[in-house]
Amino acid sequence: MANKWMAALSDSTLFLREWLVNPQRTGAVAPSSPRLAMTMARWLPRDPDSYVLELGPGTGAVTEALLKQGLREDRLVAIEHNPTLANLLRKRFPKAQIIAGDAWSMDVLLAELPFPVCSVGAIISSLPLVNFKHEQAEALAQKIRSILEPQGTWVQYSYQIHKRRSRGSSTFKLRASKIVWLNLPPARVNVLQK
Ligand SMILES: C[S@@+](CC[C@H](N)C(=O)[O-])C[C@H]1O[C@@H](n2cnc3c(N)ncnc32)[C@H](O)[C@@H]1O
Repeated sequence: MANKWMAALSDSTLFLREWLVNPQRTGAVAPSSPRLAMTMARWLPRDPDSYVLELGPGTGAVTEALLKQGLREDRLVAIEHNPTLANLLRKRFPKAQIIAGDAWSMDVLLAELPFPVCSVGAIISSLPLVNFKHEQAEALAQKIRSILEPQGTWVQYSYQIHKRRSRGSSTFKLRASKIVWLNLPPARVNVLQK
């Protein structure tokens, strides 16, 4: 138990440090709460062989929830822009494919993997889209559309809880939307489909 608390404290300290260096890109002062992470992780693909792509995994709060929910580690691909965080994730999740790179290049990055991935059953994104321009968010959504399997889901959280639609998602169907109050700050989780 003490070890768990120490790990959570060290992740929070690291997160805060990265936020101080680059607040726009880091997008939050603390990792997601277990409640928010579990709400995201509930939307795994039905097919256990489908890949899941995580965007902006940070220190791995949502990643851990995805694995707890039953995702096989070897079916997880994650793209994290911050190289310090990407290195930490590689140590924590050695069987997953952790890419240090830009989520906007997801198509190229997935195609360049040693075992290339051309489609995924779910995209679980913590990207701080409100810190990006509308056009950038729309461009990301187009990439997501091209990679998602036909019945696949894009799960995106946002701290703009009063807005039902996350930025860039206007051409997607909103399948579910839920506010998670137990998080700092509260967040809205949207589940989108093509
Ligand atoms: C709000 S944090 C979420 C971290 C973690 N998923 C969580 O929920 O605790 C957003 C993360 O997105 C990453 N990020 C921001 N822009 C990115 C980009 N263009 N490509 C990949 N990751 C990015 C940041 O480095 C940060 O780790």
